[in-house]
Amino acid sequence: MMLWKKKENLSLSIRKAYPSDARGIINCMQSVMDEKIYLVSEYYLLTERGEQERLKNPDELTLVCNDSDLVVGVLTLQRGMYKKNRHVANLGIAIRRSYRHMNVGTGMIEQAMEWAKNNGIKKVNLEVFSTNANAIKTYRKLGFEYEGLRKSQFFINGQYVDDVLMTRML
Ligand SMILES: CC(C)(COP(=O)(O)OP(=O)(O)OC[C@H]1O[C@@H](n2cnc3c(N)ncnc32)[C@H](O)[C@@H]1OP(=O)(O)O)[C@@H](O)C(=O)NCCC(=O)NCCS
Repeated sequence: MMLWKKKENLSLSIRKAYPSDARGIINCMQSVMDEKIYLVSEYYLLTERGEQERLKNPDELTLVCNDSDLVVGVLTLQRGMYKKNRHVANLGIAIRRSYRHMNVGTGMIEQAMEWAKNNGIKKVNLEVFSTNANAIKTYRKLGFEYEGLRKSQFFINGQYVDDVLMTRML
């Protein structure tokens, strides 16, 4: 667990999620999905029960950042399920709007990279909308490099948006 105090004297912690975090994770994800401009899905597809089951999967890391009882950030790292791609994991992250730019994302990604290294993962991939400058800046700062671009992969607010593929080798 990592604890640190940032502006407004908040005390935030980052840790692996338990099945009992399911509801908090869903609420946090849905709050970011409601903004509609950062994530592909606009509705969290798992029920609380389904989320509890997902959290038991040993091939998937889920980290939560908490401000007391409130889940303010969720990170998932999902490794390939086949022998041929078990060395690769896909990263996803979402932080509640009012908790951004406070190093939560940086702390969560660094903790996830430690888990990845300790679990034999060699390559971490992610996808980000080309319009999401803050996220791209965060990933670049943390050592992710551009790997490719899928042009006009999304249609958001009347505009075609590219899918930026980024990766970090471990
Ligand atoms: C993208 C996201 C995960 C980044 O996490 P965060 O906690 O806000 O970012 P951090 O505070 O760790 O900032 C990391 C770096 O990003 C850059 N950055 C972040 N916010 C910024 C802002 N508003 N303006 C300029 N640069 C910014 C800075 O370079 C910062 O590094 P620094 O603190 O050394 O200057 C978070 O903002 C988020 O969840 N956004 C909405 C959902 C989303 O976009 N998810 C990713 C989809 S691919």
